[in-house]
Amino acid sequence: MKKIFVSPSILSADFARLEQECKALEKCGADWIHCDVMDGNFVPNITFGMPVVRSIRRCVVLPLDVHLMIDDPGRYVEQFAEAGADIITIHVESTQNVSQVLRKIHACGKKAGLSVKPDTPIGALTPYRGLFDLALIMSVEPGFGGQQFIPSAVGKIRRAKQLFSDILVEVDGGINAETARLVIDAGVDVVVAGSSIMSAPDRRAAIEAVRNGGKTTL
Ligand code: DX5
Ligand code: ZN
Repeated sequence: MKKIFVSPSILSADFARLEQECKALEKCGADWIHCDVMDGNFVPNITFGMPVVRSIRRCVVLPLDVHLMIDDPGRYVEQFAEAGADIITIHVESTQNVSQVLRKIHACGKKAGLSVKPDTPIGALTPYRGLFDLALIMSVEPGFGGQQFIPSAVGKIRRAKQLFSDILVEVDGGINAETARLVIDAGVDVVVAGSSIMSAPDRRAAIEAVRNGGKTTL
């Protein structure tokens, strides 16, 4: 059985206690830390930028999975790389220069991710084949945590695994033990989960529930 990576999103964390929150996730078995960067333009919400990523970098050793929900991300990818991002994901809908930005991420020595919103077909990624290491399928409209999983993401994950070899397929939005089972069965490699992990009384159990799609491993 292949390993499913769990990338908890800190969007639902207590930002005043970010150090403790990130360290707790690391201790509880998270594989990556998912950092949602929002600019109030590409999505109707604002979160944080490079200084916060830099601070998180100092607190944990886990790879930082930085999801840029910003217009024209090419302006900032070098700064996020310098701040300590390991994987930098941009949205295919966010720039006219997708190839150029993906190349820029690679030139910084980082892994490049390319994301589609729920209404964007997975075929929108095919022109960029070979330029990205990870496809991020959004299973909610980007902008907010705590939304309901959109089931059409399942077929998109299956299609992404057929279309692109040698990449990781990641899913983001509305993931809990139940929806994790659907995306794992479709072949997903990395699951992002925010509210289902951050609101759980036992975060270690919540991370394992997402990783195993609710199945207990004895
Ligand atoms: C939404 C963000 C997600 C969000 C997921 O725009 O990209 O990473 O934090 O949160 P949940 O798991 O609560 O849907
Ligand atoms: Zn995200």
